[in-house]
Amino acid sequence: MKPVIKWILGLGVVGGVVAASVPFWPAKSAYDDKAAEQRLTVSGEDKAKLIKRGKYLAAVADCAACHQSPDGAPYAGGHPIETPFGVIYGTNITPDKETGIGNYTSADFYHAVVDGVRADGKRVYPAMPYVSYHTIRPEDSDAIYAYLMDQQPVKRANPELGLSFPFNQRWALSYWNLVNPKLQMPVNATPEQANGAYLTDVLGHCQECHTPRNAIGGLKLASAYEGSVLGKITGPSLKPEALAARGWTAEDLRKFLKTGMSPQGTMTLEMYPVLLHSSQYMTDEDIAAIQTYLTGDKLPAAPEQTPVAIDAALRQSGRDAYMAVCAGCHGVDGEGKPHIAPAMTTNTSAMLADPSNLIHVIVDGIAEQRLGNGEVMQAMPGFKDALTKQQIADLVNYMRAEWGGQPASITVQDIEKASH
Ligand code: HEC
Ligand code: HEC
Ligand code: HEC
Repeated sequence: MKPVIKWILGLGVVGGVVAASVPFWPAKSAYDDKAAEQRLTVSGEDKAKLIKRGKYLAAVADCAACHQSPDGAPYAGGHPIETPFGVIYGTNITPDKETGIGNYTSADFYHAVVDGVRADGKRVYPAMPYVSYHTIRPEDSDAIYAYLMDQQPVKRANPELGLSFPFNQRWALSYWNLVNPKLQMPVNATPEQANGAYLTDVLGHCQECHTPRNAIGGLKLASAYEGSVLGKITGPSLKPEALAARGWTAEDLRKFLKTGMSPQGTMTLEMYPVLLHSSQYMTDEDIAAIQTYLTGDKLPAAPEQTPVAIDAALRQSGRDAYMAVCAGCHGVDGEGKPHIAPAMTTNTSAMLADPSNLIHVIVDGIAEQRLGNGEVMQAMPGFKDALTKQQIADLVNYMRAEWGGQPASITVQDIEKASH
């Protein structure tokens, strides 16, 4: 799957209208070098503690999702992120002095992570989620720094930025930063809310995929968690009413984050790396804090589901496709089979108004995934060759009407649009 990041869109347009002096405006947050030196000049047990905390924070912030090499080398970079204008790569953040961040001071590191400014003063593309990380505390940044500096240096040059002119002009990002404010911690929050916001919005950077973006790809912070389009898939709304309407309970949300499984589905698509490198390692307290921050202690009651009307012939055609190629794994009535495939009756994929995730999974399948608790999910095959576009449309309509409470309005054109 190739997520398309929209933020870069219109960079040039914005660049054209703002005064040319902007790239030289200060862009760095305050950082107390003396306090940092004190925190970092530790040894023995204190150092071990600092590194352990850094390792945990790096997991909560999911740094590995974008900085692990495609061959699995931790933090050695080269992870491709597709954009409409070319490819951007997560960089080598091992302590190698030549190709990694071995020459970064803790201050350089802090400014790269929270301000998007590299040690050489150049801007970092917002594919690196510094908009969300902006209020990471200096002491937490230092702990992550200590952890990364303790890793094995890997000599691996960063791939060349795959962007074409004018999108390869890093200075133009100053304009982008000017019109797209960074995420701030809530004001007047209780300590509990502040802790939840810090874990969810800041470290977890959950908004990057669950909050809609403006025309030039900035987060619409006033519409936090209302759902987002990520290229050809969707990051569903995480608003309490929306989650409740899809059958989530507080307990299921915690289970989903910890293990990647729940009655509402497994973690798939862009959510899977969140589980793989991040949420399964979170403490129960931190998972509870994230859930409570998003939904409050208890979710609203789920609204009554009214059955959705569907033409009998269309239903039969969709049902036939389901029985032919899906029922063997997901059960004749969509009830699922333990350790084989999840239930469809309670799965949220068919409940989203936007059909793209459901279509994507049917067309492309899902590679084998290691979920939490040691559960290995076999691969689900893709059906783009086994089913015609019409059959896929009928199947999607059947599933949406039968299990999703969504209108059976999907056309062959929708399937074409959502496929690759
Ligand atoms: C969603 C993807 C993503 C996540 C998550 C992410 N990064 Fe990045 N990071 C990137 C990309 C992409 C770049 C390079 C951007 C560019 O070329 O301008 C980058 C650049 C950097 C840089 C600048 C280094 C350089 O050589 O240019 C540092 C330091 C860094 N990231 C550290 C971190 C840390 C620490 C975390 C976790 C707290 C993290 N990143 C999480 C995508 C990510
Ligand atoms: C070989 C067994 C197999 C077949 C056949 C199969 N699936 Fe799946 N399906 C799975 C598995 C396993 C998963 C869970 C994958 C994971 O989470 O790693 C899954 C996941 C899904 C999901 C996503 C669940 C989520 O929570 O995100 C949907 C939707 C789905 N299947 C629909 C279908 C449909 C529709 C068909 C028929 C066109 C089908 N599957 C055929 C095994 C199968
Ligand atoms: C890189 C993008 C990305 C990030 C970051 C991300 N998500 Fe997701 N999330 C998705 C996508 C795509 C889905 C839909 C696929 C699925 O359900 O597995 C999803 C699904 C979910 C769902 C299930 C919604 C439903 O009704 O099926 C929950 C809950 C969720 N995410 C919570 C979170 C939380 C909490 C965080 C931060 C710790 C987070 N996400 C970070 C992309 C992301």
